[in-house]
Amino acid sequence: MADMIDLAAPEDSVRSPAAQVRRLPRSVEWASACAERAPRVRGPFPGPRSLALRARCLAGEFGSYPWVDRVPVAFETGQGVTLTDADDNVYIDLTHGHLGAALGHANPEVIEAVHRQLGRLSHVRNQPSGIRAELQETLAGITPGDLNLMAFYSSGTEAAEGAMRVARAVTGGHEFVSFYGDYHGRTTGAIGTSIGSRMTGPRPGGFISVPNAYCHRCEFGLQPSSCGLHCLDFAERAIHMNSHGALAGIVAEPITNASGARVFPDGYLRGLRDIADRTGALLIFDEHATGLGRTGRMWGGDHEGVVPDVIYFGKYLGNGYPVTVVATREAYREVLAPERQGSTHGGQPLACAAALASVQILLRDNLAEHARLTGDKCLAYMQGVAGRHAIVGIGQGRGLQLGYEFVDPKTGVPSSEVVDAVYKAAMARGIVTSPVGPTLRVSPMMVTSEAVALKALRILEEAIAEVGSRLA
Ligand SMILES: Cc1ncc(COP(=O)(O)O)c(C=O)c1O
Repeated sequence: MADMIDLAAPEDSVRSPAAQVRRLPRSVEWASACAERAPRVRGPFPGPRSLALRARCLAGEFGSYPWVDRVPVAFETGQGVTLTDADDNVYIDLTHGHLGAALGHANPEVIEAVHRQLGRLSHVRNQPSGIRAELQETLAGITPGDLNLMAFYSSGTEAAEGAMRVARAVTGGHEFVSFYGDYHGRTTGAIGTSIGSRMTGPRPGGFISVPNAYCHRCEFGLQPSSCGLHCLDFAERAIHMNSHGALAGIVAEPITNASGARVFPDGYLRGLRDIADRTGALLIFDEHATGLGRTGRMWGGDHEGVVPDVIYFGKYLGNGYPVTVVATREAYREVLAPERQGSTHGGQPLACAAALASVQILLRDNLAEHARLTGDKCLAYMQGVAGRHAIVGIGQGRGLQLGYEFVDPKTGVPSSEVVDAVYKAAMARGIVTSPVGPTLRVSPMMVTSEAVALKALRILEEAIAEVGSRLA
């Protein structure tokens, strides 16, 4: 397709106009070509087949998902950056489930790898194998610093618990500090470090939560130009006031996913590193959403050159196949020996096959760089949208982890109702995003070309304009 991206060779290496334009990476070319005729939504929306499937599923489920409740579309197939529903409507996917298929739906290379493994061996428990070793070695080549010691799980929340076990084992403590707006999962320890809900109940003892450096809505009402990162001082003071000398870990998302792609100012992540060093806590970065290149660098911490003591990641590691990883320092090998990596599906051969294929595509196609270049263009567009529409509070993010905050245009107060309306209007136009509180996450896959991403953002802007004019 004519959708070429200027991968910006350094000026002095440019020999000819042809050298200035490189072909899209292989996976991007394939996945984005699928969107040539997308989006395409016809007839009543959601369509009758979607509604019938919704009714059948609801009959036997409890606790359905809010954004499915709002627009109960039944997706039946996916190809590259597109989804097709039961009524044959075609969408451009800017959320890919929950960031889980960043290499494109039905990626043929991942399918082939899983299929091959399925024909050899589906499941064993932690036994050594060539594919497990190759995955570990490949991941060790990209994990930050010396975080080369790994354990495998099958969800983010399991990995969050695993990371906390590492911190408890290494420090002998049990207390954790985490940050407003961050989300780490739905098991007990992960809940202790996450934004809560009525269902999650009280935070367990030993867990404290403090504001982070979200300057757009500073919890202290300060200005980034003059605050001197007061939130870091506050966090350290809160540790001293709340800890009983048993601090184990400081758990943070380097860029927040759950609260809509919040980016922190330069110096903040380094400041967390310093607090961890001063207090003896392990610094744990939840790279589930940010990791594997999504923010334009391999890891969220790379933007400030910060190496934490533990990371966990994996949202799209298996490109839909559930596999997550906790990686930590070589130096902790002995103290972690009793950790049994007890998870039935964690790191079993199929998971390893899916993960290895995904990481090989990521590296071969230099998708972190693609995310940086495409993300810069998307962010610039989104900031323009924020300037043009009174209902947009901010367009923010980094790389391909992006989002909008929406506000009531009369009061300027962040508004979940406005997000709902935009989300629905976008879905009806064939653009799939994910709403959370007053923010809308806009997460093009790692294999979305600049042209397709901007096409989707322009259509999303039409939805924003429609909602804005209704509320004016
Ligand atoms: C940053 C982050 N960490 C952890 C989790 C929990 O992961 P999972 O749903 O795989 O348990 C999520 C889920 O959305 C997340 O966004």
